[in-house]
Amino acid sequence: MTNYLSYTFHDNEAFINTYDELPLWSAPFGLLLLEHLELKPNLTVIDIGSGAGFPLMELASRLGASCKLYGMDPWVNANKRAREKISNYALSNVEIIESPAEKIPFDDGSVDLIVSNLGINNFSDPSAVFSECHRVLKPHGKLALTTNLRGHWKLFYEIFHRTLQAMGKEDGAAALKQEEEHRGTMETVGNLFTENGFELSRQVEDSFDMRFLDGSAFLNHHFIKLGWLGSWMDLFEKAELPAIFTALEQNLNIYAQAHNGLTLSVPMAYMEGIKKR
Ligand SMILES: C[S@@+](CC[C@H](N)C(=O)[O-])C[C@H]1O[C@@H](n2cnc3c(N)ncnc32)[C@H](O)[C@@H]1O
Repeated sequence: MTNYLSYTFHDNEAFINTYDELPLWSAPFGLLLLEHLELKPNLTVIDIGSGAGFPLMELASRLGASCKLYGMDPWVNANKRAREKISNYALSNVEIIESPAEKIPFDDGSVDLIVSNLGINNFSDPSAVFSECHRVLKPHGKLALTTNLRGHWKLFYEIFHRTLQAMGKEDGAAALKQEEEHRGTMETVGNLFTENGFELSRQVEDSFDMRFLDGSAFLNHHFIKLGWLGSWMDLFEKAELPAIFTALEQNLNIYAQAHNGLTLSVPMAYMEGIKKR
């Protein structure tokens, strides 16, 4: 019971390789989840889209040894890193399963709680994932998730639109609007729950700001390049990209110069549903 009393910190490469690695973009969403999720003993929990292990490792640590948690993700290298964290943090209550959430390798009615931090925007068929969650959850089991909502980075999209319109690229502006609006709203995410046999038990809407010095910093940010740039580039012909992004960057920088930087808001939701039928 008091194993922790013999803990000794070993300052080595393996430890530092996996220390202090929380993805900044994921943090506000994970904190929202950790704030609102009810903590109970003896739970079997799955984190779908667990990636490199946030908030899986934190949740496992906060729930403690009476609960068993499974991280589920098809991303091989992220799973490898998550397994290294389990080992280096000496967590005995977490396992990683390499699988897409459309097919959860668990029996019907065998799980108490499923969580997902920023998962649903990444699932190619969110409804199939909700239905699969419903199958594996026990009666009255809970699905709790966070997601960013339509309206994120509104100011960036407004400046992007104005840029395209000024360049006479009406088709591009329409395509951008569609890309912006494919994110969920409280209503559409809520519908995913109710259409798949869940009763909504909690809905919290919140937002946070991300501040950048200017458009150049924003467009060059490693996370913007990794997670977003590709979906904006896909909206245009390859030959148009240099002119469009040069004008966009200039307009963002002009705005930032006049307004003391670029402050982009990100609306987000914590939603949970109980399996009712
Ligand atoms: C935005 S990341 C979130 C990762 C982590 N939960 C976090 O908060 O940082 C989305 C994750 O969903 C995973 N993913 C994509 N498709 C999936 C699927 N069909 N089933 C389960 N996970 C999936 C990705 O590999 C990625 O790790």
